[in-house]
Amino acid sequence: MSRIIMGIESSCDETGVGLVRLSDDGTVELLADEVASSVDQHARFGGVVPEVASRAHLEAMVPTAERAFATAGLKLSDVDAIAVTAGPGLAGALLVGVSAAKAYATALDVPLYGVNHLAGHIAVDTLQHGPLPSLVLALLVSGGHTQLLRVDDIASKITELGSTVDDAAGEAYDKVARVLDLPYPGGPPIDKAAREGNPSAIAFPRGMTGPRDAKFDFSFSGLKTAVARWVEKTERGGAEVPVNDVAASFQEAVADVLTAKAVRAAKDQGIGTLVISGGVAANSRLSSLAAERCAAAGIELRVPRPRLCTDNGAMIAALGAHVVAADRPVAPLDFSANPALPV
Ligand code: KG4
Ligand code: ZN
Repeated sequence: MSRIIMGIESSCDETGVGLVRLSDDGTVELLADEVASSVDQHARFGGVVPEVASRAHLEAMVPTAERAFATAGLKLSDVDAIAVTAGPGLAGALLVGVSAAKAYATALDVPLYGVNHLAGHIAVDTLQHGPLPSLVLALLVSGGHTQLLRVDDIASKITELGSTVDDAAGEAYDKVARVLDLPYPGGPPIDKAAREGNPSAIAFPRGMTGPRDAKFDFSFSGLKTAVARWVEKTERGGAEVPVNDVAASFQEAVADVLTAKAVRAAKDQGIGTLVISGGVAANSRLSSLAAERCAAAGIELRVPRPRLCTDNGAMIAALGAHVVAADRPVAPLDFSANPALPV
């Protein structure tokens, strides 16, 4: 008897509803993945505005769910369990998803699971590449997070090995894009500009790579400031800013640090598989350098397709399926969102 799991995501600026089928043999199949984004409403502010995001979730939640059921050819009454992002994320935004999930769970009389957004970013890989090996290293890189996680069990045991001490990698992309007069979110336009630029044109700093720095932590605020200073100095000197070279050199610095630390962590922990996920995993240089360095180190690399890497409901449904399969306790109906939920 297979079970249908509904996943609800609303931690940041994407309203996501996903549906998966969990079979008795543990395989998880993607049936629907509908996302409504409020990213355009935040563009003129250069970052996500929490109140705007919450209101957009309220408006989009039910229509997004309806689209997911229509795509999958399922009815609400087909759902066997619901998983919702309980945190981390924006408090008001999370509350919309958690409230919707409670309402659906009550109306349908099905179990409800509050799950961790970061674990969802890892679990989503199973929808594309099948079951995860028993031990995995995850590099999570998004607009809100930059973390190295040791995954002993996706449903119950994830340990943080390191994280950013300041800006997230995606945040650095967004801020550098602003300095270069490129649109928000900054990742895609920088990635594109970098293709026409020289990655060794400017030697930007590699944060937290000194001998006394924590082994698996990251820092991107110094890099962002270095880029801003370099651009400012060039403009003051009356020269034209070589946007493509700056983009390529900045991108090289980010990809270099992320992949070097991920490979170092995998070796240190004796882990043979690296999963890279989150919005920045879509970066072309990050994936090519990771492929190169993982191959050299004998590490299997798994990067879900970009659509699965950015925030969506399918990742929460996929994690929900693993949590259901692991028989983890159901959330009481009075559980609440936790903006700072640890992994
Ligand atoms: O995972 P995500 O959609 O949302 C969260 O932050 O949770 O990630 C969004 C981030 C943004 O900062 C965006 O600039 C970055 O991912 N991003 C990229 C690329 N595509 C999106 N960064 C670098 N290269 C890309 N191709
Ligand atoms: Zn995310």
